[in-house]
Amino acid sequence: MAAIFTTSAPQLKLDQHEDQQTPRHHSLDQPLHSTLRTQLATLPTPIKAPFGQMRRLLDTLLSNPTLAASLNNTYPKRGIFKTAALTNTNSDQKLTLDISPSRLELLPASLRTELGPDFDAVVSFFQSVERVHVPQILAALSQLVGFDMSRLHAARNLNFRLCDYIPSTANPDSSNGCGAHRDYGTFSIIFQDKTALTALEAEVSPGIWVPVPPDATVVVCGWCAAVLSGGEIKAVRHRVRRVPGVRRISAVLFVAPDLEVKLRPFDEGKWKYFSDEIIHGNVDVEGFKEVMGKKWRHREGNEDITLNGQDSEVDQDDDIQRLVWAD
Ligand SMILES: [Fe+2]
Repeated sequence: MAAIFTTSAPQLKLDQHEDQQTPRHHSLDQPLHSTLRTQLATLPTPIKAPFGQMRRLLDTLLSNPTLAASLNNTYPKRGIFKTAALTNTNSDQKLTLDISPSRLELLPASLRTELGPDFDAVVSFFQSVERVHVPQILAALSQLVGFDMSRLHAARNLNFRLCDYIPSTANPDSSNGCGAHRDYGTFSIIFQDKTALTALEAEVSPGIWVPVPPDATVVVCGWCAAVLSGGEIKAVRHRVRRVPGVRRISAVLFVAPDLEVKLRPFDEGKWKYFSDEIIHGNVDVEGFKEVMGKKWRHREGNEDITLNGQDSEVDQDDDIQRLVWAD
């Protein structure tokens, strides 16, 4: 097993307090790769995230609309610094900064200079995470699925995201920081700034949410890993609860297969569990991302869509389940 998954590292597990009401964590001496298969896994020795510089960068963009507009103009299709939560009471109550490698290349040198050393520090941090942790996790996943996953991840289909759960959103009393969802890609590495005790939660069974320790750097797998592994790896539902009045920042590196990769299980013996669309190789990563993207942009307040006349988390998830699994 890859070195990052030590046999003595803690595993998240549902347990009950004495009052039988509140789930909490227990540390167990179990291999973390088994955790990664079914739940969030913890990175034992993560690179240190520069949260002070992240906070200053986000403050700079929020207080300087001209600079934020210049940044967004480099990717006018979707923008880079997204602030829908300042005016939308129903969306996820957070701001986001998305700086993928391809968008970085579009930044003029003059704008990069204007963004200053905090921006450079954030980019440098994500590049270090990409260099150190991404190969480790891909190697561990490869062992789980019996296929070299790194071959499907050669084109840097990544996203570097900062999430800013600021108190002064349009709905300051809302506890919805990020609605329940599964990530679309292979895996995501989530760095947390330790400010809110129960902010990030994972679902261990329907409706049972377990808080993730605020000092943990975690890895959560997404739909692409679930399909390629024939369902051996779970796409774990998770959400972020917002603590009114408390600012929290997280940094997330999203890793997905190359856009042209067909989403089909490596093991033909698992094909019977999947839809005809998947089995026939009609769903590639680019198309799947397009379907998923509509849903997450809607949840984040950056795109309006109608979901069967409703706007519920269950409907969004059901859509994807129907696309992926056999009837
Ligand atoms: Fe997520």
